Amino acid sequence: MTYKVLISDPLSEDGIQPLRAAEGIEVDVQTDLSADELAEKIGSYDALLVRSQTKVTRDIISQAKNLKIIGRAGVGVDNIDLSAATEYGVIVVNAPDGNTNSAAEHTVAMLMSLARNIPQAFLSLKNKKWDRKTHVGVELKGKTLGVIGMGRIGVEVAMRAKGQRMKVIGYDPFLTKDRAEKLGIDYGTVEDVIKVADFITVHTPLLKETKHMINKAAFDKMKDGVQIINCARGGIIDEDALYDAIKDGKVAGAALDVFEEEPATDHCLLDLPEVIATPHLGASTVEAQENVAIDVSHDVVRYLTEGVARNP
Ligand code: NAD
Ligand code: MLT
Repeated sequence: MTYKVLISDPLSEDGIQPLRAAEGIEVDVQTDLSADELAEKIGSYDALLVRSQTKVTRDIISQAKNLKIIGRAGVGVDNIDLSAATEYGVIVVNAPDGNTNSAAEHTVAMLMSLARNIPQAFLSLKNKKWDRKTHVGVELKGKTLGVIGMGRIGVEVAMRAKGQRMKVIGYDPFLTKDRAEKLGIDYGTVEDVIKVADFITVHTPLLKETKHMINKAAFDKMKDGVQIINCARGGIIDEDALYDAIKDGKVAGAALDVFEEEPATDHCLLDLPEVIATPHLGASTVEAQENVAIDVSHDVVRYLTEGVARNP
């Protein structure tokens, strides 16, 4: 019996070696399929491996007659219709910790770039301007970082911020006083965090409960001149409300790695000089891409050959 695995997003070639090496598994890499092409082809595959670009919709799952498992080489499974997968008996596995370090480092890079206007200054210098007045920044030392979502990445970001001598306050429904004390941070409600923070970074999944959790009402409660970072998921922050809050001068700057609609090349937020952005690069390191591809490859091999699943 040969199982067929389709990889529909670019994954690390080293990371997918466990799949290529497995007996009885045939790997097919096709990373430029349209939704229609994927729906047409998926019927002959036993497993599908994706990153975040491929939208694994109900329509695709319903046409995947042989599909047994979907592997998400990364954390967020919001690009996969989980209820359709459950309904059609398809297992979904992700790689929950292979990119934690890279995403945390990217968040800190964004935090520091935001505080010191590094992307704006670089752009200006590339345009042959030696401008030392416009790009005056602020120090992080002594400022308060609010972390909303103290899971794997949120905790790593909090620890790194302490290294910058920042005060940290975190909110997470599962964060206890004891755990916060052990981490050496303050903890409070989401309201407490947004009221006291000079910089706010979000690290929750995108869920019904977290969609637009940072909205106009939240911005209104923040300190004047607050700066916002989103390296988690587009949609946690209400982009229209963020745009207005920047225009009104409430928010001094924002660093965005993720957007509600991706790719986001023509977004009004990108026209604002206060906004710096990257195209969803949080997990884009050699190490993270290898880690997550290895993790899901092993999961898919185990499931297809032994019927054993590790997560979600
Ligand atoms: P995680 O599951 O370890 O942590 C998420 C945390 O959010 C959990 O502790 C959970 O309790 C908390 N949470 C859930 N609902 C909440 C709410 N309403 N308010 C506050 N906290 C809430 O996940 P993680 O690995 O830390 O990933 C965090 C986010 O980062 C996810 O959205 C993931 O998809 C995203 N991510 C993005 C990139 C990127 O490339 N930019 C890379 C990796 C992960
Ligand atoms: C994730 O949720 O892991 C990120 O979106 C990273 C990725 O692009 O895979």
